Amino acid sequence: MAKIKSKFVCQECGYETVKWLGKCPSCSQWNRFVEEFESKESKKSQRGISKGKIEKINTIRPTKKERISTGIKEMDRVLGGGIIKSSLILVGGDPGIGKSTLLLQVADYASRQSLKVLYISGEESGEQIKIRADRLGIADGELYVLAETNIDVIREFVDKEEPDLLVLDSIQTIYSPDVASAPGSVSQVREVTSMVMRMTKVRNMATFIVGHVTKSGAIAGPKVLEHMVDTVLYFEGERHFSYRILRAVKNRFGSTNEIGIFEMRDRGLIEVENPSEVFLKGRPVDAYGTVVTAAMEGTRPVLIEIQALVTYSPAGFANRVTTGIDKNRAAMLIAVLEKKAGLSIQSSDTFINVTGGLQIKEPACDLAILCALASSFKEIPVDFKTILIGEVGLTGEIRGVNSIEKRLLEAQKMGFERALIAEANIEASKEIKDMDIIPVNNIRKAMEILF
Ligand code: TYD
Ligand code: MG
Repeated sequence: MAKIKSKFVCQECGYETVKWLGKCPSCSQWNRFVEEFESKESKKSQRGISKGKIEKINTIRPTKKERISTGIKEMDRVLGGGIIKSSLILVGGDPGIGKSTLLLQVADYASRQSLKVLYISGEESGEQIKIRADRLGIADGELYVLAETNIDVIREFVDKEEPDLLVLDSIQTIYSPDVASAPGSVSQVREVTSMVMRMTKVRNMATFIVGHVTKSGAIAGPKVLEHMVDTVLYFEGERHFSYRILRAVKNRFGSTNEIGIFEMRDRGLIEVENPSEVFLKGRPVDAYGTVVTAAMEGTRPVLIEIQALVTYSPAGFANRVTTGIDKNRAAMLIAVLEKKAGLSIQSSDTFINVTGGLQIKEPACDLAILCALASSFKEIPVDFKTILIGEVGLTGEIRGVNSIEKRLLEAQKMGFERALIAEANIEASKEIKDMDIIPVNNIRKAMEILF
């Protein structure tokens, strides 16, 4: 009998070695290597699906891709205007974040447009899906469910039923009997995905696959298959907040900087059409330590509230806690505040929070974070109708940001009357009328105006 070859595969990134390793040399994660077995059969199915031909690039006529609307505007936006037929879309996210709910809603909308949808779940029984569907109030369309985990069986059903849209929930529960490794391992996930990819392209249907993001490393994360699919969407959010963000991190048919915002209610996910309103809801009046800024989420400006609390540090060393912003960025802003604005804040405990569970990565929010800290330190509130937009540099200078006009218009729409922005942005914002726009070039000047 031929010897079965084995290898050790990092379940995080798919790196392969012949020996077990504690730390992955590729992604630096610990304890992610699992022994997997190669099988001869799996090689067979990796053969090409079509005979290629050489073409001169300028003679290729691009066919217009047909897009199917999901019926959910936020989802369509993230996909670049709808689902492309024969595309494979991965929806990744933490367990329990709402991936199954989202896709069942998409499946429902698609079936209402007389598309045939097959929803295959390896996690829930038909009955469980039905309970969820009742909760979501889904229509009586061409939506079929199947509880199955064997990819060969799934393929038979797909061949027989010929759906327009296929949902596989989740990739980590589906296995190919040709691969010796356990379901959810890198070899399985890759094999199943490549089979699904072929099915999708040959049948000209669109397929969504759900992939759980895992921290334990026992099953392969969606990272290992990101390069195989056409589009990668991540569904994010804090479990304790009801807001969810759908973000495209890869899209062969559209841009990747759009996001969709949803709220999880007891009847499923609801689109949030005016995110600024949602994120500013419940903002305290006349309280110190709260500031509003305008962040760009894709091409959309979103107003967000940043809160800070600066307190005496009894421990002898300062505690720095941030939620929603990068710790290092916060540390830098605290240092700038100490050195360049003369606030002795370094030895205090500081807590910074972006409300609504959002993650902010933009430097354009620096000025707001810095002023929220200063406001809490000085115990003086920042005017309720003032918005702060600008990047802060190490010398305390305030730098211009992109899309200033869009940000200011959004602020105006939400009732803000005054804005502090970088001098460099004044030119780009001169079209904005009826708003008191004040240029500031360093943080001292901003402090003078605000406090
Ligand atoms: P689910 O879609 O099962 O998450 P995933 O597939 O990503 O693991 O969503 C699970 C959570 O969503 C669960 O904690 C209950 C909650 N939920 C609602 O709040 N409202 C609803 O209408 C539904 C269906 C779920
Ligand atoms: Mg699920």
